[in-house]
Amino acid sequence: MTATLMTRLVHEQIKPKIGSRILNSKEELLSGGLSAQLNELLEQRGVLVFPEIGFTDEEQVSFTNALGGTAKEMRGEDVFKISLDKRVNREAVEYLKGSLYWHIDGTMNAVPIRASILSSKVLPTWGGNTEFANTYAAYEDLPEAKKREIEDLRVVHAMWVSQLYHTPEPSLAQLEDWMARGEAIQPLVWKHKSGRKSLALGNTAERVIGLEPMESAKILHGLRDWATREPYRYAHEWKLGDAVMWDNTGSLHRAMPYDPDCGRLLHRTIMRGTEALN
Ligand code: OGA
Ligand code: MN
Repeated sequence: MTATLMTRLVHEQIKPKIGSRILNSKEELLSGGLSAQLNELLEQRGVLVFPEIGFTDEEQVSFTNALGGTAKEMRGEDVFKISLDKRVNREAVEYLKGSLYWHIDGTMNAVPIRASILSSKVLPTWGGNTEFANTYAAYEDLPEAKKREIEDLRVVHAMWVSQLYHTPEPSLAQLEDWMARGEAIQPLVWKHKSGRKSLALGNTAERVIGLEPMESAKILHGLRDWATREPYRYAHEWKLGDAVMWDNTGSLHRAMPYDPDCGRLLHRTIMRGTEALN
C-alpha cells in the first residue's frame, strides 16, 4: 500500500498585521513539502518565526534552497556571519553598523534579494532584538490622497547615505570610498507582479527626485515613521536556535543596539530575488 503524506503548515499569528509563528517540526520543514505554503504565507505576513528550531548551517542552506534558491553572500559563501565583532567578520563590521537603522537589503541592486533567514547562534547580553515593519500593510492603510501623491515618486538610494547614520563625520577619503559604490534610482512605491504595493524606504534613501530637500525629507521620514509604528511593527527577541525569515520585498528591518563585544551571532542565508524594484 502506498500512503501519500500531505504535510500541512501549522502556524499562528504573532500580530494582526505582521508576523506568524511556524509550529511544524524541523523534519517537516526540511522535507520540502511545505515550501509553496511557506512562500505564500511569507508574502502575506512579512515575517515568519521558527521558534528554537536549531538549524545547522547545512540544514539552513537546504531549507533556503527548497524555498526558492539561495543567493551567494558577498564573498561567494552560502552562510554569512552577522556579528559586530571584528574577529568574526572584519570586512562586514562597517556595513553591519548600518543595519542598526531601518532598511531593506540590496536597494542598490536592480533585483533585491527576495528574503533572508537568520539563525541565532549566540545571544546578546543586552539589546540586540531584530525589528521588522510590514510595508505592504503600511502602504495599504495610507489615506487615498497620500497614495496618489506618492504613486509615481522616485528615490535616489545610496550606500554612503546609510553610513552617515553611524559615522556622521567621515574623512573625505572615507566618504569617497562609500560613494564609489554608486547610487540607484528606485520607485518609492514598489509595484509587485501580484498587484500588491509596498514602500521602498530605509537608510539608503537619500532624496525624492524633483522635490525640495525639506519636502523630500518629510516624505521619506514621514513614511518611514508611519510604516515602523504600531500596528505594522514586530520586535523579535531572540532565543537560542530561533530562525526568523523576512520578506525583503515588503518589509523594513533593523537590529537594535547591543554590546559589540558580547559575541551576538546570527547565521544568515539569503534568497535570490525574483522582482526588480522598477
Ligand atoms: C541583516 C540584518 C539585523 C540583525 O542580516 O540583513 O539587517 O538583527 N540583520 O542583525
Ligand atoms: Mn539587513
